[in-house]
Amino acid sequence: MPLPYVLLSAAVSLDGYLDDTGPERLLLSSPADFDRVDAVRASVDAILVGAGTIRADNPRLLVNSAERRAARTAAGKPEYPLKITVTATGDLDPAANFWHTGGEKLVYSTDRGAERAARLLGGTADVVPLGPALDWRALLEHLHDVRGVTRLMVEGGGTIHTQLVQQGLADELQLVLAPLFVGDPAAPRLFGPGAYQAGRLRLLDTSRIEDVVLMRYAPTAPGTGPLPTAADRHWLRTACELAAQCPPSETAFSVGAVVVAGDGTELARGYSREGADPVVHAEEAALAKIAPNDSRLAGATVYSSLEPCARRASRPAPCAELILRAGVRRVVTAWREPDTFVQAADGTGVLVAGGARVVVLPELEDLAKAPNVHLL
Ligand SMILES: NC(=O)c1ccc[n+]([C@@H]2O[C@H](COP(=O)([O-])OP(=O)(O)OC[C@H]3O[C@@H](n4cnc5c(N)ncnc54)[C@H](OP(=O)(O)O)[C@@H]3O)[C@@H](O)[C@H]2O)c1
Repeated sequence: MPLPYVLLSAAVSLDGYLDDTGPERLLLSSPADFDRVDAVRASVDAILVGAGTIRADNPRLLVNSAERRAARTAAGKPEYPLKITVTATGDLDPAANFWHTGGEKLVYSTDRGAERAARLLGGTADVVPLGPALDWRALLEHLHDVRGVTRLMVEGGGTIHTQLVQQGLADELQLVLAPLFVGDPAAPRLFGPGAYQAGRLRLLDTSRIEDVVLMRYAPTAPGTGPLPTAADRHWLRTACELAAQCPPSETAFSVGAVVVAGDGTELARGYSREGADPVVHAEEAALAKIAPNDSRLAGATVYSSLEPCARRASRPAPCAELILRAGVRRVVTAWREPDTFVQAADGTGVLVAGGARVVVLPELEDLAKAPNVHLL
């Protein structure tokens, strides 16, 4: 299921706090950075905060610039992004600014919380129950499919950011580091304890904004189960884009592949007919660049724009077999192999029979097909 692009936005003190414990909201950003946040808000379809942030800060979460709002309406969008909150208890103050400013409002909750929220809010917002517990993936699918949200900005607090990062659902983190200390262990932190991705995130860019620094990071570590993570989508997109480098062919597909270790380190990448080898496949080209005894292969994921081949005329071993022999047990692909060159090829079947997990992301199928349209 396609999900919205999820962008987490937060400002933290030098010692990692989101706020202090005083009654007023602690202002961490600089004026120019508040204006940057305004521009980001104007660029998204929806803004989400936890119910804790509504209770603590009583925020409006508006696009303040009249020019930016005018540009949104000129582009056929609502003047303000959809405002969303999540609550388990349904304990929402109907007098809070959140409900009386901006455009449409939406509440996601549990079945029990939704009853209470609907009673308290009395029609001010749409209230969507998501079952006995709130499942973030179900929430994002609903936002995408029912509300048409493709870009979601999440503005805290720490409980929300922590869950989205730990569940592999955040595509990007926009973090502003403010030059002050809080020093109070009772104050809320950006990220709480729990299991995070191993290894390092990818730094997208940094910029100085008055006396604060904006850092943009993206997750890197592949998912571990059957459900794709934000990092899986990033790496598969990279593989699809690599296929553009393939020398053209009328008799073979153009495919890109990336091999990524469990901690998010890229081990190798390759593409069809790479270098001087006119028949090499993308996965084969990538795996050939990794030492066969590299212990990271066991926890690695192979991203391939096209399902690895199950049979081939040009070489004795098909790519599905090469992947299994390398010890890789997770493959993410965008496109099942059509019958164009091989009837009923089933690389997925070979991989699964060999003990590997195959995850297919159909939302990237068109991108994977793009360099191959002349063959279809
Ligand atoms: N510096 C910044 O950039 C920034 C930005 C935002 C917020 N903040 C600060 O962060 C603090 C608030 O953070 P917080 O962590 O306490 O609150 P929060 O993350 O805003 O919200 C937590 C609440 O959201 C609901 N919730 C969270 N996960 C849920 C789930 N899986 N299912 C159902 N409901 C769920 C629960 O609401 P119920 O309790 O209603 O069930 C929970 O109490 C404030 O001090 C605020 O100033 C700072």
